[in-house]
Amino acid sequence: MQAQFFPCCPVCGAALTQNGRTLQCARRHSFDLAKEGYVNLLIGNHKSGDSIGDSRAMARARHQFLERGYFDVLRLAMAQQMQTLTGENPLVLDICCGEGYYAAGVAAAKPCRLLGFDLSKEMVRLAAKRKVPNALFFVANLSAIPLPEQSVDFAMHLFAPFHAQAFARVLKESGTLLSVIPGRDHLFSLKKAVYDTPYRNDEQAPDGGVLRLLERTRVKKTIFLESNEDIRALFSMTPYAYRTSREDLAKIEKLETLETDVDFVLLRYGK
Ligand SMILES: C[S@@+](CC[C@H](N)C(=O)[O-])C[C@H]1O[C@@H](n2cnc3c(N)ncnc32)[C@H](O)[C@@H]1O
Ligand SMILES: [Zn+2]
Repeated sequence: MQAQFFPCCPVCGAALTQNGRTLQCARRHSFDLAKEGYVNLLIGNHKSGDSIGDSRAMARARHQFLERGYFDVLRLAMAQQMQTLTGENPLVLDICCGEGYYAAGVAAAKPCRLLGFDLSKEMVRLAAKRKVPNALFFVANLSAIPLPEQSVDFAMHLFAPFHAQAFARVLKESGTLLSVIPGRDHLFSLKKAVYDTPYRNDEQAPDGGVLRLLERTRVKKTIFLESNEDIRALFSMTPYAYRTSREDLAKIEKLETLETDVDFVLLRYGK
């Protein structure tokens, strides 16, 4: 672990410093680093972080799918935005970082200090295994982000619950929040293969509260999924996976290849 900036103590809010394989605050609240280099900063009932957030199987399916490069245009777009919107050695925060695919791409674009967190321990474990330079991944809940007020230069947030107040608290006055939502045509062919009356996404930007929506950018591409395994992995990453009947799921089993659009809307918020 080679972080240059640490989250703060989730119990008392004081600064954490590294002491061997432990992060500790002045009041001696301490949090052990796992062997992969991440740290669990969840407190109270949710201490383990095992059973909440996305499951192990979902984390691995997401990891395998993203590594195939189907969403590389989005990773590149995120990296370009970070590069142009930040100064020297910015503090970048990946909110609900998942298994770290986008964080790793963004960090490779320009020297930065990177923090990423997710509620799912398995996601965070996979992210830490990427060994992103100057990065620390931790388990935390977005409703109580263990970071000082106004510390983040660039926050990224993809396909995850939105919490305007929590995001605004940690963002600097000059900071940027780049949030990604699925565009109108995202995976429409996949939906068409499963449902009789598929819907287009509404592209409604979350209400930023004190954060102002400054810009919308679209990133779109047609991808060709080459195997049933990839199609199933992609479907399992969507919110539809939870609410599809057995009958409709069986349609996915039969698809060998699929051409579909990926369509993303990047929402840039500032203070
Ligand atoms: C659809 S995934 C997106 C992950 C990643 N941003 C990506 O695009 O690959 C949503 C993520 O949000 C996380 N999540 C859900 N609720 C959360 C919360 N309250 N605090 C932190 N993470 C949360 C889940 O564990 C999951 O990893
Ligand atoms: Zn403390």
